[in-house]
Amino acid sequence: MKYGHFDDRQKEYVIMEPQTPYPWINYLGMEDFFSLISNTAGGYSFYRDARLRRITRYRYNNVPIDDGGKYFYINDAGDVWSPGWKPVKNKLDNYQCRHGLSYTIITGEKNGLEVDVLYFVPLGDNCEIQKVKLTNKSSKSKEFKLFSFVEFCLWNALDDMTNFQRNFSTGEVEVKGSVIYHKTEYKERRNHYAFYSINEPIQGFDTDRESFVGLYNGFENPDAVTEGKSRNSIAHGWSPVASHMLKINLAAGQEKELIFILGYVGNAEDDKWESPGLINKKKAENLIVKYQSSVAVNQEFERLRNYWSNLLSIYQLDSHDEKLNRMVNIWNQYQCMVTFNMSRSASYFESGIGRGMGFRDSNQDLIGFVHQIPEKAKERILDIAATQFEDGGAYHQYQPLTKRGNNEIGGNFNDDPLWLILSTSSYIKETGDWSILDESVPFDNDETKAKSLFEHLKRSFYHVVNNLGPHNLPLIGRADWNDCLNLNCFSKNPDESFQTTENKQGGVAESVMIAGMFVLYGTEFAQICRRYGQQKEADLAIFHVGKMKESIKKHGWDGQWFLRAYDYFGNKVGSRENEEGKIFIESQGFCVMAGIGVDDGKAQSTLESVKKHLDCEYGIVLNNPAFTKYHINLGEISTYPKGYKENAGVFCHNNPWIMIAETILGNGDRAFEYYRKIAPSYLEDISDLHKMEPYVYSQMIAGKDAHKPGEAKNSWLTGTAAWNYYAITQYILGIRPEYEGLLIDPCIPHNWNGFTILRKFRNAVYKIAVQNPEHVSKGIKEIIVDGDKTKGLCVPAFGDGKTHNVTVIMG
Ligand code: BGC
Ligand code: NOJ
Repeated sequence: MKYGHFDDRQKEYVIMEPQTPYPWINYLGMEDFFSLISNTAGGYSFYRDARLRRITRYRYNNVPIDDGGKYFYINDAGDVWSPGWKPVKNKLDNYQCRHGLSYTIITGEKNGLEVDVLYFVPLGDNCEIQKVKLTNKSSKSKEFKLFSFVEFCLWNALDDMTNFQRNFSTGEVEVKGSVIYHKTEYKERRNHYAFYSINEPIQGFDTDRESFVGLYNGFENPDAVTEGKSRNSIAHGWSPVASHMLKINLAAGQEKELIFILGYVGNAEDDKWESPGLINKKKAENLIVKYQSSVAVNQEFERLRNYWSNLLSIYQLDSHDEKLNRMVNIWNQYQCMVTFNMSRSASYFESGIGRGMGFRDSNQDLIGFVHQIPEKAKERILDIAATQFEDGGAYHQYQPLTKRGNNEIGGNFNDDPLWLILSTSSYIKETGDWSILDESVPFDNDETKAKSLFEHLKRSFYHVVNNLGPHNLPLIGRADWNDCLNLNCFSKNPDESFQTTENKQGGVAESVMIAGMFVLYGTEFAQICRRYGQQKEADLAIFHVGKMKESIKKHGWDGQWFLRAYDYFGNKVGSRENEEGKIFIESQGFCVMAGIGVDDGKAQSTLESVKKHLDCEYGIVLNNPAFTKYHINLGEISTYPKGYKENAGVFCHNNPWIMIAETILGNGDRAFEYYRKIAPSYLEDISDLHKMEPYVYSQMIAGKDAHKPGEAKNSWLTGTAAWNYYAITQYILGIRPEYEGLLIDPCIPHNWNGFTILRKFRNAVYKIAVQNPEHVSKGIKEIIVDGDKTKGLCVPAFGDGKTHNVTVIMG
């Protein structure tokens, strides 16, 4: 069943029914001010850091779900309703939610009154604009009241949810005209405040939650709204909120637009006060003036839309498959931007408190984003690298506000360092900017220990070389990419975390996945060394990579597939000898992507085994058979019920590794079959089973062993976005930035006739027409650039600002 439809022209997903199987959300903001917004206007805002600078409250894990948001209420002669259906939940005559690129439009209609709210964060300003359009569609004049509502968070989201003994006494506000200011803690250590304004005089307001809502009511029936009367309350402690009330008269057919702004302002230390006790409102007032009129708001909205059109124009596909086109051209790129911005901090499954910017995650997110805003990608690489340790190891995450690494979700994940090579090489391939390697970057944020980024990559590489186990395979440390494969943990105590506990010291557990990664990204490192004039380093790197290949062939092969690991005792993990978890996806993906076994049939055999044991209707599961018992030597993976998450769920993040591996062997049919199985636009018709948004990937779809196969969870913030974009654009459609230029080597279903792609790359435009007259999956007969045949598969980086026509004949 579907709950809406794609509008590709507007680049929107249009939801027609408010009761979606889960809140279907969107993100607003791309720089410093962000909001999450659901199809019923639930969600919250924050400045830069969802934990430390939370602007409005939201109740995770609440009943009902998705409570707290940017709500509007109408009281139309005693009939109370909300345009987003929630929170009032009175039946609407019409409802629609359009989630677009960094904006959302929610429209509700009842009794001839239509309320249409456009929510977006303008580029360059720290605020969310809400443009409310009211239309009297009836044939009689209408007099009604409109109430706005947001609830402020007392800044630190964790404290706000836990430290009530203090919080209930700290809240402070100011009201001036139609503007409500939230200034809790401003007088001491904060120099920031929030405000909520409207561009018209108001007939009432509230800033104290209890006065507005009533102590025993919920958001669905606030006293002030039901009675049609604001209390003009001023909050002193408890829970500060902001609500405006307007009495509105509309003649039949008349329209009216109002502009609300929820903003964030930081003042300089010596410019905090207007007069004793009154905050300096200058910056807020400037913003309010700037967005005083609908014309100004419309202009900014247009600018945002153009901004997105430009970003998306860097890679545009025209194929016979509209579901593929909308993933590649719109939604996958959009999700890549959002994951790049948020890492794993704030979604409807990530509370904005637990996790910040992941070292591993952010490096991977970058491969789906770097073509969009390479300068931001560069900054991100340098921020991440600055949290690296001198021995090449890494903090597992950092908070975006402080950019300092922390150990809150553990450390010592031995795959972490290698991802820095992936992100840096992707950046160089996209931009040709080798100077990034010369940038001076601190270790552990200590400037006195700064070295070049190149040196950081070298330390990443040698972190593996210096941490090998008994089979000369990389030690896994706390875990590798699979956070739940905790081979040195041995936890019997439910009160300890699998992420931070390492009960068995001196573990010698080894990871075949890291070994495959090392071959892949170690080879990349060697290529970087060579091109960077470090031939000796390159030779040495190749030597170590060669040794690792040998170790994998000798100790990492199980007969029909690659082993996953050796545990603490040196026993095999992911072997036919095991009772459960005989085969895992990660090492199959990485070893084949690294080219291991392509020459001797191991790669083919591995991918057949994946097909046979791991593939199912909803994608490729992570392992098989699923664990049914707790294996103390394996850790969290065996705690999940079978078929969920890392225990044999379809972990969408690593499905593209297999897609890419299939393209390496030339199996375009199979690569694309795997692609379609998990791409959300293809799952729209089973939304009631899948549950999550049909326009973005989820981290996990329940696997074949689960209670409910096909049901997804954890949408939006997942490495799935970047990896699928990377797999489809660079390996299946096969347009791949390389150091020398744009490599063209598609691997597609054999029955495709071809496709065209417009790719902007290093200051030139490539119009690429791929033709497949012989219906092959892979192989190029000729490539003609501007009328001339080229040698090889790489089209030069012209850098001339011109458009070049590239005809590619497969065969
Ligand atoms: C999840 C993993 C995640 C980890 C984060 C685990 O509970 O299953 O997917 O990577 O937490 O720390
Ligand atoms: C989600 C985490 O964000 C990511 O870092 C990890 O690799 C996967 N889960 C697999 O455990």
